Amino acid sequence: LAQDAANGETIFKRCAGCHTVGPNAQSRVGPHLNGIVERPAAAIEDFRYSRGMKKAADDGLVWTRDDLAEYLAAPRKKIKGTRMAFAGLRKESEIADIIAYLDRFGPD
Ligand code: HEM
Repeated sequence: LAQDAANGETIFKRCAGCHTVGPNAQSRVGPHLNGIVERPAAAIEDFRYSRGMKKAADDGLVWTRDDLAEYLAAPRKKIKGTRMAFAGLRKESEIADIIAYLDRFGPD
């Protein structure tokens, strides 16, 4: 599956009401997403996660590309009780593109 980070930047507009990435990114409605590829779940100290996300973290979830793809396709299916109010991305290509985009932002 070809990945297109530039298209991912466009798709990220659907996330940007709740999430930021890049220099000076801060948690808002959702946690900031710097370094999200390979970041342990629920790792942002000052963010108040759902019990479901904290349980996933306790169970050892680290956001690999595959885990991110599953969560972004169907958030509530991947994480029972998540409070991310987002239906999910339907197209596999959009998911691949957004992960390619997010992978450009390392941990700060
Ligand atoms: C959590 C990505 C859209 C609100 C997360 C996490 C990721 C993510 C990877 C887990 C972060 C962690 O474990 O630290 C995305 C992407 C989106 C998107 C890529 C767009 C495609 C949204 C939208 C909202 C939102 C639109 C608000 C309406 C949240 C919240 C959490 C979260 C509140 C914490 C969930 C919990 O504690 O259960 N998001 N998100 N996200 N996101 Fe999103």
